[in-house]
Amino acid sequence: MRTQIGIVGAGPAGLVLAHLLHLQGIESVVIETRSRKYIEERVRAGLLEHGTVKLLIETGVGERLQRECLTHHGIVLRFHRGSHRIDFNDLAGGKTVTIYAQQEVIKDLVAARLAAGLPILFDVEDVSVHGYEGSSPSIRFHAAGKEEVLHCDYIAGCDGFHGICRPSLPAGVLTEFERVYPFGWLGILAEAPPSNDELVYCYHERGFALLTMRTRQISRLYLQVPHDEDIEAWSDDRIWSELRKRTEADGGWKLNEGHIFQKNIASMRSYVVEPMQYGKMFLAGDAAHIVPPTGAKGLNLAVADVRIMAKAFAEFYKTGKTHLLERYSETCLRRVWKAQRFSWWMTSMLHRFDTDNAFDQRRQLAELDYVTSSRAAMTSLAENYVGLPWD
Ligand code: APR
Ligand code: PHB
Repeated sequence: MRTQIGIVGAGPAGLVLAHLLHLQGIESVVIETRSRKYIEERVRAGLLEHGTVKLLIETGVGERLQRECLTHHGIVLRFHRGSHRIDFNDLAGGKTVTIYAQQEVIKDLVAARLAAGLPILFDVEDVSVHGYEGSSPSIRFHAAGKEEVLHCDYIAGCDGFHGICRPSLPAGVLTEFERVYPFGWLGILAEAPPSNDELVYCYHERGFALLTMRTRQISRLYLQVPHDEDIEAWSDDRIWSELRKRTEADGGWKLNEGHIFQKNIASMRSYVVEPMQYGKMFLAGDAAHIVPPTGAKGLNLAVADVRIMAKAFAEFYKTGKTHLLERYSETCLRRVWKAQRFSWWMTSMLHRFDTDNAFDQRRQLAELDYVTSSRAAMTSLAENYVGLPWD
């Protein structure tokens, strides 16, 4: 087998990259260890920046998204029973964010690729990457028990945080930057109409809570829990009772409750590797960086990376120039670090830390008071939340 770009991983990074390359007339093969059903049902975040939405629509994979999404013009920060709205119309030049679950984006991208007759190999095993230090990169794997070799010009490592591309790079090439948080998020999906039209981020002495949604009938709710928490410790009753406490507010507030049909706990970390490229191996998305979910930047950063990568490959195949490929890592990292800063900042402001002391709590409340009363601070939050410019 031979192709131009061998793509490891069919998450948002790998699938958007394959789609953008196809539109530029560049061939690729996507290799995925999981089944199609698994990646299309995997529950992840669901908030798209305005730039991500624009890209999906402009490249022809936004039709169902436009029909089914929910567009939001602001968010609410809640603390001390008070609710404070950050208005994107006023503060972010009318830019919006969009609720549309990640697995729906995945379904749309897989459908578009298969309809165009282009290859995604699901359920492959024993994936390994070779030759990217020289001039003949290849990806080896087993498909249906048979050993296969995919020869390519370049390898795109889009295989997520636990993938094999990043760890396969020689020792000493990458520098890692990391912060692990002493808590995680317990997430649920419930058959309950959203209690508020927009997302509500709650700071509470019992810990952080977030009210978000998937549709007008389905709520997605999160609770801060200790990082090693056992999900069995959280009965449905305990989850609702804790959510009621942490989301309490004046002014006739009521939390809508309903049947919980999905529960999971995700750990939280901030992580970056530098550089995001070595030889003919280019890393994108979670393979290169992880953010805590508080700013909802994970998927959006993955899309921003592969947009830059696709442009660089397009330049190379049109002109033979490697200028943009050489600058890939540097270009991505400038924006990645700003999203890291924002995600860390939102996380630090809104969660209870193990080391919490009275000083830190007063400081967090002062920060919340500032960010909901100063126009300059609100503008900063709003412009980061809707997504910083791509270029
Ligand atoms: N070979 C092939 N595929 C692999 C391998 C491997 N060795 N290891 C992992 N994969 C696949 C995973 O099964 C997954 O489908 O790579 C894909 C990586 O996808 P994601 O983890 O979704 O990562 P990415 O595409 O970078 O998307 C950005 O940011 O915050 C998160 O939820 C957000 O998942 C989103 C991510
Ligand atoms: C989600 O809808 O899953 C979501 C939204 C905003 C976040 C995190 C997750 O900050």
